[in-house]
Amino acid sequence: MSRLDNRWFGHETWIQRHKRLSVGLFLIAILLFILVLGYICCAELKMVSGFEKTSQTEGEKTAEKEDVADGDKTSTETEVSPIDPDKPMIAITFDDGPSIYTEQLLDKLKECNARATFFMVGQNVRKYPDTVKRIAEMGCEIGNHTYNHVTLTELAPEQMQSEIEATNQALTEVLGQGAKTVRPTYGAVNDEVKNHVAYPFVMWSVDTTDWQKEDAASVVNYVLETVQDGDIVLLHDIHAITVEAMMTLIPALQERGYQLVTVSEMAEVRGITFENGQKYFSFKK
Ligand code: NI
Repeated sequence: MSRLDNRWFGHETWIQRHKRLSVGLFLIAILLFILVLGYICCAELKMVSGFEKTSQTEGEKTAEKEDVADGDKTSTETEVSPIDPDKPMIAITFDDGPSIYTEQLLDKLKECNARATFFMVGQNVRKYPDTVKRIAEMGCEIGNHTYNHVTLTELAPEQMQSEIEATNQALTEVLGQGAKTVRPTYGAVNDEVKNHVAYPFVMWSVDTTDWQKEDAASVVNYVLETVQDGDIVLLHDIHAITVEAMMTLIPALQERGYQLVTVSEMAEVRGITFENGQKYFSFKK
């Protein structure tokens, strides 16, 4: 023993020393317990990734975006994940775009290996041709939502047709082909429209009313509470809060077991063949 040890322990009995050591060991055990508890809590927090994302700072968001952009260079965008027909699926759809927010949405879809359907307004196809191309390359589906976002039921037959054909012309200039389905603006279809617009009409079974919601959380909560297997979900990628909501919603839906597929993919898996002039609201089992 050193002199220092003698100073601390020299005049203690072995019982006193034993007690002192026991207390020491007990304190070390408590310290280890706190450390392990802290580690477990930290790991659990990380698992709740959806909530983690909403608390990110702007700087972190930018860094993440750059990471995704780097990933683009090393992987092809044409890889499409297979669909399991026995597992639940839904088709999320975005009307009125593309817009300045659509690229961020595509980054998230890609990151999650998910797909969606975009019903585009012809004017915006001309504004964002690169986004249109990327949507197609990712295996997402593109539909027609008129050229000027007009109500088809209020138009003369030849105007109805030119509104649809002008968008398909714009798409053809970018992609080499037009859309195979139409989503009528405001869901307005009557017999006149059915007779003069020779396309299947893709409607929806979940209306999120995202355009009048005040924040992203309201959109997320509404969809998670409402959605069921086979649903077609109506959203708009021209609203910042909608795209913000999708950052949480896409992984949250996948965590609940939903495959995120396009409208046509879901129709095919469920044995539906599109017919011109028919309306389709959902593809439930
Ligand atoms: Ni619309």
